[in-house]
Amino acid sequence: MTQDELKQAVARAARDYVADRLPVGAILGVGTGSTANFFIDEIAAIKDRIGGTIASSEATAKRLEGHGIRVLDLNGIDAIGIYVDGADEIDASMAMVKGGGGALTREKIVAAVAKTFVCICDASKRVPVMGRFPLPVEVIPMASAYVSRELEKLGGKPKLREGMVTDNGNLILDVHGLSITDPVGLEAHINQIVGVVTNGLFAQRGADVLLLAAADGVQTYT
Ligand code: 5RP
Repeated sequence: MTQDELKQAVARAARDYVADRLPVGAILGVGTGSTANFFIDEIAAIKDRIGGTIASSEATAKRLEGHGIRVLDLNGIDAIGIYVDGADEIDASMAMVKGGGGALTREKIVAAVAKTFVCICDASKRVPVMGRFPLPVEVIPMASAYVSRELEKLGGKPKLREGMVTDNGNLILDVHGLSITDPVGLEAHINQIVGVVTNGLFAQRGADVLLLAAADGVQTYT
């Protein structure tokens, strides 16, 4: 199977998960990226039973609206039942590296509000120790050089993502060369650096459910 076929398979499994477990009329959080895009295309078929969606990026909002799926303002709702999103890496503790698409801050906000975070991945994303995928860090533009120096002190090699301005008007530093053995501690530490908006470690609030696609089918982990 190609990687796209695996993403398609896991997107279908996530659609079925939502159809089975999201109460009719409840709010669905929707992630960003190529796997999330397959998921958006799948949920067009069940849009009538979804009360509305919270999008984790402008790109996701546009794709949802293209299918006639209602996108709501997070400030106008109290609860998100299920949030479905991809990841760049996920470890055995269900901690993730996210933000390959640059939407990490809004993704982290949606994840914080959601009752259940369902991560959808192909099997290549599951790793024993995260860090091979560069860790994205969203920074306020005037602080990027300072934050880079601070990240170097942690042993990382930050690189400014060229041509990228986030939906929030900020920059992304991709931190190479980390071996993330303490995801919870590193997430908290990086978030303490002045000028950091957030970082792509989703460890304090990791996934609740992992749907993982491999050649022999989609497995569910909790
Ligand atoms: C975007 C993300 C994505 O979930 C992550 O990059 C995975 O993307 P893809 O499904 O395209 O591999 O965090 O900010």
